[in-house]
Amino acid sequence: MIFVTPPGMPYSQPMAIHPLWYRDGVLYVLDQTLLPRKEVVREYHHVEGVAYAIRTMIIRGAPAIGVATAYAMALGALDLHERDNREQRMAEFRGRLESTRPTAVNLRWALDRMMNAAAINSHLPLKEWQQQLVAEANRIREEDIAMCRAIGAHGLPLIPDKATVLTYCNAGALATAGYGTALGVVRAAHEAGRQIRVYACETRPFLQGARLTSWELMKDGVDVTLICDNMAGHFLSRGEITCVVVGADRIAANGDFANKIGTYGVALAARENGVPFYVAAPTSTLDASLPDGKTIPIEERSGHELIQFAGDPIAPQDVKVRNPAFDVTPARYVTAIITETGVHHPPFDFSSRRGEEE
Ligand code: MRU
Repeated sequence: MIFVTPPGMPYSQPMAIHPLWYRDGVLYVLDQTLLPRKEVVREYHHVEGVAYAIRTMIIRGAPAIGVATAYAMALGALDLHERDNREQRMAEFRGRLESTRPTAVNLRWALDRMMNAAAINSHLPLKEWQQQLVAEANRIREEDIAMCRAIGAHGLPLIPDKATVLTYCNAGALATAGYGTALGVVRAAHEAGRQIRVYACETRPFLQGARLTSWELMKDGVDVTLICDNMAGHFLSRGEITCVVVGADRIAANGDFANKIGTYGVALAARENGVPFYVAAPTSTLDASLPDGKTIPIEERSGHELIQFAGDPIAPQDVKVRNPAFDVTPARYVTAIITETGVHHPPFDFSSRRGEEE
């Protein structure tokens, strides 16, 4: 087992789980494809490596994808020489990263921030320009942790003592720069001394709930129970769930949102049974350019994720497979959206992107 706790990293807040961090021209990433079996940290020096890590889900979760993308752009900048056309090369790096995972808008958001930082500092000599880009990526990472903590603080009043919270996929420390969004709310309740339980849906086919959510909550001493995805309706109908809290990969202006495939079914079952359904996400997940969720791009992943389990075949190898990685839940099923700016209630209007006017 190779597990490196970042030596002497300046964190704004102490954290138990470090999904990614940067130091001296290297991006360190905890490999989430191997969890919980092995804790292995990978090192990336160039854009291409980080693009591979995002595509293959070594790093995953919308905010973490955004932070990794920012560092990829900084690593790209560090690779440039005096003779290079900075603007052109940065646009090339952007192109390579853009297509890695199409649904999480945080990726595009981070690219915009980095391209903007590159442009406004373009008058600087190469070394100083590179330092500015590393500084911007560090800021994006730190801001992400701060946003997650604020989401936790805003969400705390929604979680009563002795609540059982059902969550889907992994919207935790591993899916962000640290602390988490949906699990940030859970962590805030746990830190406030509330006795809460989490029901984690396993999240077929990539098993983020089974492998990642249960791992990170157990590490933090939160009472977590693993259930199969097809058990969610059962527990919701029996009155065993106080509320559902999930993350999001993209939230349209009207509050429709994309999240891990299967979220929509959980939202329907929650509504049918009168259970509050909350979405927790930073404002970097808002996409004001989309009036509703109909045109959110949905990533389709390889069928291998369905026909194999840990490398072993579990279906005929030539069976036809569909594997959309996300679905869109209409805003009408959402009780509230928790961002770092506060708790937003329907009717949602995120057309100003930062969601500040609600
Ligand atoms: O395919 P993944 O694992 O990247 O999907 C992750 C999710 O769907 C999360 O719920 C979402 O990104 C929010 S993470 C804070």
